[in-house]
Amino acid sequence: MSEQTLTITDNRTGQTVELPIEHDTIPAIGLRQLKVQADDFGMMVYDPGYTNTASCKSRVTFVDGDRGILRYRGYPIEQLAEKSTFLEVAHLLLFGELPEASKLTDWNARVMAQTEIDQGLKALLKTFRADAHPMGILVSTVGAMSALYPDSKQVHDGQSRLQQAVRLLGQLPTAVAFAYRNQLGLPSTDPDGALGYSDNFLHMMGLSGDGEVDPVLARAMDVLFILHADHEQNCSTSALRNIASSDADPFCAIAGAIGALYGPLHGGANEAVLRMLAEIGSTKNIPAFLDKVKNREVRLMGFGHRVYKNYDPRAQIVKKIAYEVFEVTDTNPLIDIAVELEGTALEDDYFVSRRLYPNVDFYSGIIYQAMGFPVEIFPVLFALGRAPGWLAQWMELMSDAEQRIARPRQIYLGEAERPYLSMDERG
Ligand code: SDX
Repeated sequence: MSEQTLTITDNRTGQTVELPIEHDTIPAIGLRQLKVQADDFGMMVYDPGYTNTASCKSRVTFVDGDRGILRYRGYPIEQLAEKSTFLEVAHLLLFGELPEASKLTDWNARVMAQTEIDQGLKALLKTFRADAHPMGILVSTVGAMSALYPDSKQVHDGQSRLQQAVRLLGQLPTAVAFAYRNQLGLPSTDPDGALGYSDNFLHMMGLSGDGEVDPVLARAMDVLFILHADHEQNCSTSALRNIASSDADPFCAIAGAIGALYGPLHGGANEAVLRMLAEIGSTKNIPAFLDKVKNREVRLMGFGHRVYKNYDPRAQIVKKIAYEVFEVTDTNPLIDIAVELEGTALEDDYFVSRRLYPNVDFYSGIIYQAMGFPVEIFPVLFALGRAPGWLAQWMELMSDAEQRIARPRQIYLGEAERPYLSMDERG
């Protein structure tokens, strides 16, 4: 076997360094040996957006972007979407294994016993205006949980970490539903611990009228939560890891992750897709819209991905769920525009040459709208699904002896030293 090392020669000086290769990576700190002057800081790597930088070692989620593969703890997303439940997937992500029957029953009961929210949190949620964006409310909600639960600062205590995880999983749907109905001027519906996780969420949202939650819609919601549950080191998870690396409590870290997810380039894309489809308005307008995309006037939201250079496996499952939901709700006419838009784009070299395919956000909003959710709440639904993934990544970070506080360096291109100017010397 050839040496598992990389030899680098600095042609400025002829200096060479030999760095160990582990998991097809090299330790960036090893480059600091390369200097021109002895008192130089030493060489670094420059990687805006971290396109080629491994920030951690993880055992939670595996994504192969070229092959369109996504696995949670080794289990293919297609099998989990077909056979599992969201709380079972949350257990899998947090503990690393699918639970046996009795453990699953206990786990479900433990989460569903923590669905009540604090009266103080309700008072906070009531202060938001009817037009406040639900993601801004969600950031505030999870940030407030940091203030409500000071024991969450015990980030090095495994039992405390689990307690915060259960609190977040249990309370988030209730807080989201409470805020949503408050903005509509409607009375809140208390959580019902006897219901399933997604059934209870739809029950509290009151989207199924006064009747029972339709099992088709509850299952669709559960599967959509499963599809969003984790995705390795995406923008919001990296934000979470950055914040948590300072030993900040998990609620502050996840509030930061929600902030990152809000962006239209990330979790906010599902809302942006619906607005884009509504703006296109008809399949006959698709060619003109794609011309605007190719002229870089607009982006084709819900398309493209930093990792997937093939079809996002989640998008295929979401597309299938859409038609199952339409069996129960009215068909969302925007699906026809979305399907035609996808087909036309995937025959256009502009998108094919850039390996741009539909991602998880392209079809999900169409389902959410058919289920009765307002567009603004779509990113919140993404966050509800991603909560167990954020928690699993946080727990892994807190147990990783190799991790330190995140503190990247920079390439300084600013002014050299210069003396202070008095007022009459300026201008
Ligand atoms: C999520 O990372 C994750 O795992 C995220 C996520 C998760 O589960 O956590 O999967 C969830 O965030 C999915 C992505 C949702 N965002 C969108 O749908 C917004 C639209 N997509 C893009 O803005 C873009 O594709 C990103 C942000 C998703 C990825 O951006 P990159 O990797 O930085 O790609 P890029 O901007 O460098 O694009 C490469 C080329 C460029 O063209 P050139 O300059 O080379 O000619 O592709 C073009 C881009 O202009 N391009 C697009 C495009 N996405 C990329 N052109 C038109 N429409 C698009 N959507």
